[in-house]
Amino acid sequence: MEYRIADRGLAPSGEKKIRWAKQYMPVLRFLENRYGAARPLEGTVISACLHLEAKTACLLILLKELGAVVVAAGSNPLSTQDDICAALVENGVAVFSRHGMTVEEYFENVRSALAVGPNIIVDDGADLVATVHTEMKHLLPGIRGGSEETTSGVKRLKSMAAEGILAFPMISVNDAHSKYLFDNRYGTGQSVMDGLLRTTNMLVAGKTVVIAGYGWCGRGVAMRASAMGARVIVTELDPHRAFEALMDGYEVANMAEAAPRGDIFLTLTGNTKVIRREHFEVMKDGAVLGNAGHFDVEICKPDLGELSLSVEESRPGVQTYSMNDGRRIHLLGEGRLVNLACGDGHPIEIMDLSFALQLESAVYLAKNTLKPGLYDVPAEIDRAVMEAKLASLGISLDGMTPEQEAYMKSWVE
Ligand code: NAI
Repeated sequence: MEYRIADRGLAPSGEKKIRWAKQYMPVLRFLENRYGAARPLEGTVISACLHLEAKTACLLILLKELGAVVVAAGSNPLSTQDDICAALVENGVAVFSRHGMTVEEYFENVRSALAVGPNIIVDDGADLVATVHTEMKHLLPGIRGGSEETTSGVKRLKSMAAEGILAFPMISVNDAHSKYLFDNRYGTGQSVMDGLLRTTNMLVAGKTVVIAGYGWCGRGVAMRASAMGARVIVTELDPHRAFEALMDGYEVANMAEAAPRGDIFLTLTGNTKVIRREHFEVMKDGAVLGNAGHFDVEICKPDLGELSLSVEESRPGVQTYSMNDGRRIHLLGEGRLVNLACGDGHPIEIMDLSFALQLESAVYLAKNTLKPGLYDVPAEIDRAVMEAKLASLGISLDGMTPEQEAYMKSWVE
């Protein structure tokens, strides 16, 4: 098995983290019991590009235990944990990643994860899919399909499908109810605050927190920041979402208005250069900036660099830009996903749901032949994942009585 990681000797620490995560992943354990004997992925080769931390490791190991050959690249240099990579290799998953890898190494690792010739792709951000369509087209005939984890990846896949170039079926795990309602909202809500607090040791109560983007992620972070006592200002492009933020009790403003007022800025838009030169120019001394959108382009780092005299790491995970006029602006996690670059990512129980959808999607793709295009997670899988979660909590649902069923189908009062 070929692999490229920092240090295989770190495996014991990674194994401990994986054991801890697995005990809080009842839905994955349920699927392990359901599929374990049948090994539905026997003979399948899976290339994955994911944040390589303990919860993802539980998914990758289970995919292997269900019969697949699994090769993984890390989807972000700062979210890759070297001890997890080592433990994955010990468990027979080939890994190409290391914490702090350069952009060149990152793409080399993506290519190495693909070189095995996958039948199924498990992507987070669509870099595997993009690379196979641009640089490694010879692999296309062998690919049955794949699944995509995040909003920004799905956005890229939609563009590829609209241009008619998406050559195989991709399932949008992100758009499943069991994903975006919980992962994007509650997962990001908690873990972004966790990353911010761990890295800065700052008080949130009484601060003005500016949230750019009131989508699923932004709603979650606004809710948690507000619950901790922050005054929240939301910036948006979309009038309905802006009004929703107002109805939820937040102030809504544009970034030019919010920039001089904010103490903490968090971007969650999936867009580029949301905070840029004209905003940095008017920020307070000591403003803290974090991004939780998938790519590190939401806070314009080149503009920040041009406006500053020097940059230093003032705390682990905090880059302090000293501006020409003496102000300091602190950037968390180099502008990469703050919850993963400065923390452990989403809570375990949340990723249990998202990864159950990833696993079910892989099994579905191994069993079914689909035409090229972008697909939703089949509704029965989405529902089954939620039911398994509720069952693990001992919560049961009502069923309809025959009278209720007839009533719901009828148009006569
Ligand atoms: P969404 O599409 O529900 O929301 C994004 C919102 O940002 C939209 O309401 C849009 O109108 C707004 N927006 C776009 N450009 C803007 C701008 N220049 N200024 C202000 N608002 C703007 O997307 P979702 O699901 O909330 O995801 C947002 C980003 O977070 C994506 O990049 C996604 O991949 C990423 N993500 C990150 C996670 C994490 O762990 N940090 C977890 C899940 C998603």
